[in-house]
Amino acid sequence: MPIQWFPGHMHATRKAIAERMPEIDVVIELLDARLPGSSANPLLAELTRGKPALKVLNKQDLADPQQTASWLAHYQAQAGTRALALDASDTAPARRLIAACRELAPLRGGMAKPMRVLICGIPNVGKSTLVNTLRGGKRAAKTGDEAGITKTEQRIVLADDFYLFDTPGMLWPRIAIEPSGYLLAASGAVGRNAYDDEEVALALLTQMLRHHADRLRDRYKLGDLAGLSDEAVLADIGRKRAPLLSGGLPHMQKAAEIAIHDFRSGAWGPVTLETLQEFTQWQAQAKLLDAEREARRAARSNTKNQVPPRGQGGDDGAGKG
Ligand code: G4P
Repeated sequence: MPIQWFPGHMHATRKAIAERMPEIDVVIELLDARLPGSSANPLLAELTRGKPALKVLNKQDLADPQQTASWLAHYQAQAGTRALALDASDTAPARRLIAACRELAPLRGGMAKPMRVLICGIPNVGKSTLVNTLRGGKRAAKTGDEAGITKTEQRIVLADDFYLFDTPGMLWPRIAIEPSGYLLAASGAVGRNAYDDEEVALALLTQMLRHHADRLRDRYKLGDLAGLSDEAVLADIGRKRAPLLSGGLPHMQKAAEIAIHDFRSGAWGPVTLETLQEFTQWQAQAKLLDAEREARRAARSNTKNQVPPRGQGGDDGAGKG
């Protein structure tokens, strides 16, 4: 089952972004550098279509630098788009962000035409941390509670002619790409009650076995992982790190919690869970599944429409004497 999570406050955020959009010059989207494709919000893409975009691959300290470079190149190659990688160790990120936005909207600037930038991202991507750092800068001042600024957003003055509108973290109503749902849950973007730890840990281990098996082996002192399934590795983590259940069985729930925690905290070292090629395949598969689902739905509704009203006979009399 794809993970679904779109509580009421995210509806409010969607509305606030849609209303603000006409006067926005550049949209900064924070992506999780460990899952750059999965953390890109398709709803936001819809709401901000046509606007110059700055993609920030955040938490780069937790991601594989080579993969980060490939994803940055992918975004840089898109029209009207710039990309840069960041993490919380950068104590003065404003200069790079402002410079990239000015490149994207060179006609904005000066008191008469201040630059208006919207910053958004999925929950837990590190947006509050970044915005707090930006606000801590000498020239930054929060000027919320102003006319025209809704409760769901804050306006931050990054320079005299540079306004940043901050929005709460937002997901999208249906996460159609199943692996993305699991990776988003692993990253902490999805509410705790919307997923099953074991399923999420298995999806996480599948990707780790594909891309960073050595990190798992080193972290949990496992033997050769070649040919092992995600389930077998999760069981091994349980045996190594959690008390056994009665009958000597590994505690899969505990093992799952440990795997998710270690991923979130960076205990595996810098890892990226998806390549561009892989994510593109997931997208194509999800599209295909959606088309099949839609075709089945259409066929069902056709069949329903073809059932004649009661009493008017449903068949052509064949077989009757
Ligand atoms: P959000 O507003 O997008 O929801 O995210 P927030 O800034 O609250 O950050 C979510 C978690 O990610 C926090 O950890 C934060 O410390 C961590 N974080 C933010 N930026 C970076 C980064 O660049 N690198 C790394 N490694 N971590 C980052 P937490 O454990 O939930 O809370 P805390 O106790 O660390 O504050």
